[in-house]
Amino acid sequence: MANVIYLDNAATTKVDPEVLNSYNQITLKYFANPSSIHSLGQESSRLLDKSREQILNVLKLTHHDVIFTSGATEANNLAIKGYCFANRSRGKHIITSATEHSSVLNTVLEMQDFGFEVTVLPVNKEGQIEVNSLKAAIREDTILVSLMMVNNEVGAINPIKEVGEYLKKFPKIAFHVDMVQAIGKLPIDFNNIDMFSIAGHKIHGLLGSGLLIKEKKIILKAINQGGGQENNLRSGTNTLALSASLAKALRLAIEGEANNFKKVKVLSERLLGYLKDNKDKYLINSYYEDNPYIVNFSLLHHKASVVVEALSNRGIMVSSLSACHAKNEDYSKVVYAMYQDLNLAHNTIRISFDKDNTIEEVEALIKNLEEILKEIKQ
Ligand SMILES: Cc1ncc(COP(=O)(O)O)c(C=O)c1O
Repeated sequence: MANVIYLDNAATTKVDPEVLNSYNQITLKYFANPSSIHSLGQESSRLLDKSREQILNVLKLTHHDVIFTSGATEANNLAIKGYCFANRSRGKHIITSATEHSSVLNTVLEMQDFGFEVTVLPVNKEGQIEVNSLKAAIREDTILVSLMMVNNEVGAINPIKEVGEYLKKFPKIAFHVDMVQAIGKLPIDFNNIDMFSIAGHKIHGLLGSGLLIKEKKIILKAINQGGGQENNLRSGTNTLALSASLAKALRLAIEGEANNFKKVKVLSERLLGYLKDNKDKYLINSYYEDNPYIVNFSLLHHKASVVVEALSNRGIMVSSLSACHAKNEDYSKVVYAMYQDLNLAHNTIRISFDKDNTIEEVEALIKNLEEILKEIKQ
């Protein structure tokens, strides 16, 4: 489709040509298995080690392990299951929140089948967990807290720094953070975070690449058995070209973070200004000055699915629910958790920006939205 306006960057981003180029070159040159002991294999192994080092350097981390995964879903599963299975003698209680991505929430809930007990924290009207409700939920046998830093549907930022500082008092509790929508976008203080997950495809890397980064002291049990690669935590021949190109995507994202933030802020301010001027039609579900990347709103008098389709027919790609849920759920669990209002939760639209979007694209979105709302019946 010519002249597409892509405003669904929280679902996935377009791969950076530089990253794709690295991927292609490494695939052709470093094809040997990094576990092979011949010299070609050792060259691959060195490149893999270098990629790990680059990742830790760019994030300024020193006491950490890097585990390459196929994406954040796998990283979240490994963090949660791996930690619970390795540490079950220390306790059986896990805390998470109602608005986590399903790869966290469903994994934590699944642990109930293995005898674990779960507290799901509610969120406030701004989509954040309250530190006091976390404090109240902690039990003698709590071993894991898993929270996202930035919500993928509304962009809400959780008080991760405050939670991490508080959890320091509980050496038995590991703190896992889903950083997928935060990394390369917002400044992050990694102190007091024991493990975090990243997806390559949300930062212009390749689909199929992801990371779990953990403090060395954190002990996990592998969830798949095999040849013992990735320090025995993720068996299977390492996809070196994906790993090395993820290191590059991450470096580019972190290097561009401050500039990209400024660019995107101009775009979200224009859109928020328009939405605020039209309070009779829209309710804004994103409150955050601090996160311009996601603007979510509910249509007060129209069906979101109809509007999203009409925008798509005009070449403007936005989403109604998060991409993972768009096909099998019909309302936003996140917006419902914020207001307990099904009508608002049914009719959400998420605009997710990227450094490559332009103000002209935002103007086109606004113009088309106006026309579509007039055209379709309420
Ligand atoms: C917050 C969050 N966590 C986890 C994931 C899952 O990532 P992946 O697609 O790499 O498995 C996503 C993707 O939508 C996400 O937005």
